[in-house]
Amino acid sequence: MLLNNIQEVRDEVRKWRKDGLTIGLVPTMGALHAGHVSLIKKAKETCDKVVVSVFVNPIQFGPSEDFDKYPRTLDNDTELCDNEGVDVVFAPSAKEMYGEGQRLSNDVLTYVCPPFFYVNKLCGRTRTGHFDGVCTVVLKLFNIVQPDYAFFGQKDAQQVVIVNKMVNDLNVPVKIIQCPIVREDSGLALSSRNKYLSDEGKKDALVLSRILNNIKACYKKGITDVNALKETAYSFLNNHHELEYLELMNKYTLEEQEKADNSTIALIACRVEGVRLIDNIYLED
Ligand code: PAF
Repeated sequence: MLLNNIQEVRDEVRKWRKDGLTIGLVPTMGALHAGHVSLIKKAKETCDKVVVSVFVNPIQFGPSEDFDKYPRTLDNDTELCDNEGVDVVFAPSAKEMYGEGQRLSNDVLTYVCPPFFYVNKLCGRTRTGHFDGVCTVVLKLFNIVQPDYAFFGQKDAQQVVIVNKMVNDLNVPVKIIQCPIVREDSGLALSSRNKYLSDEGKKDALVLSRILNNIKACYKKGITDVNALKETAYSFLNNHHELEYLELMNKYTLEEQEKADNSTIALIACRVEGVRLIDNIYLED
């Protein structure tokens, strides 16, 4: 069932609650791919009822980012959700979520602003305000759907850490379930932004997973010095790649590390054909 209206979602959820059913939310910006399908399948396994939200959230995009050209494929998304047995696709307009003109007048919206420590690194360093926009919309979705469980992909590792922090700090009664990254056979992590890449670009984009796999292999061979691990990346890069960051951090706290250990995640962001791609890997599973 496709719903665009907050009140309709609340009414539907209220009926489910009355019947004692558990509810799962998969928040998305649409352009659904196999990565999203894995979240939906996990939600179906875990919960009686599943809501998928499809909303390209204007307040998490910076002025020079790809909000206008972000792929919007609601018909396909709805069909895919139907095939997966999703109970409600919630696809509100920006006006429904934020009211008229909200995007231009941030001062009238109450934002959820995660701590500087978590946002002043990785994607947050170049995407000013991005995680304020993410946390604000995610908390709104939690308040609208009131799910027992919410499902997020590990590909956006910083997002999952920050959403967990918000949920703990603000006592939001939802359990966050992180699901593994889904990759093409080539190793490329699935992303809605892969649609922007040419065939050549897709080949160049393999550099992200290659760098990460190589770091993990070096770690497994006994190299733990983080600088030495990072240096192994440079031989993979050429002038088709604009590396934005490569970091090794504690996967729960995003603290930087000098020595890698069983808590370490390696994270990378790199532009290929101007498309900003991210990926990450745990050095131990
Ligand atoms: O990961 C995403 O697609 C978005 O950041 C989210 C969580 C749906 C919030 O808009």
